[in-house]
Amino acid sequence: MTTALPPTPIATDRTVDTSPISLTPATGTDLDPIWAAVIPETRARSNDIHLPISLAYAERLCAAYPMADALLVRVAILLHDTGWGRVDEERILSEGFSGDWRRAAIRYEHEKQGCLIAREVLPPLGYDDDFVARVVAIIDGHDTRPEAKSLEDALVRDADRLWRFDHAGIALASSWFRMDPASYCDRLAAEIVPELLTEAAVTLATVELERSNRLLKTGVLR
Ligand SMILES: [Fe+2]
Ligand SMILES: [Fe+2]
Repeated sequence: MTTALPPTPIATDRTVDTSPISLTPATGTDLDPIWAAVIPETRARSNDIHLPISLAYAERLCAAYPMADALLVRVAILLHDTGWGRVDEERILSEGFSGDWRRAAIRYEHEKQGCLIAREVLPPLGYDDDFVARVVAIIDGHDTRPEAKSLEDALVRDADRLWRFDHAGIALASSWFRMDPASYCDRLAAEIVPELLTEAAVTLATVELERSNRLLKTGVLR
């Protein structure tokens, strides 16, 4: 099922685990057949770092919002950026991370390709048409659509942002945007935290950013 989007920021009465994300990798092996089906697509744009870390954050968010369909969230975050594997690699950095990057044509293309990949890989693994349609509805527009359509969509969006607050995310994303780590950390606080849709994600982002700022010595390395 898909859960109606509550008012944002979406409140939780659960305690959120704010330990380093490396301490709680994604659980279980139920998604391993999907991972195995998209190995070539994980080689693009560091998806083999971005997607597993984002899945680990998605599972923390699902623990904070038990009314969400966790399988839908987990599968959607796993697949959401696989479309980068089927677009022109050269254009990923030249268009996807400069100028009006959120509206670049390449962004729409990676979303479209991601939807096609979900429709390709999920049915042979036993996922039914209704489930696949709900995964595709989240992947479609995940970067370019201004609003979330459901609670599950909101959790995927927040997990997609949260990985950047970990030092691995800062290392990769700051180089994509050609920024130094301190400036990128400042951008995370100023631009990405306000975009988060759930209270749990704001808590996670705040603690993780504080930890990364200290680890990377951004107070002096700026
Ligand atoms: Fe994306
Ligand atoms: Fe992403």
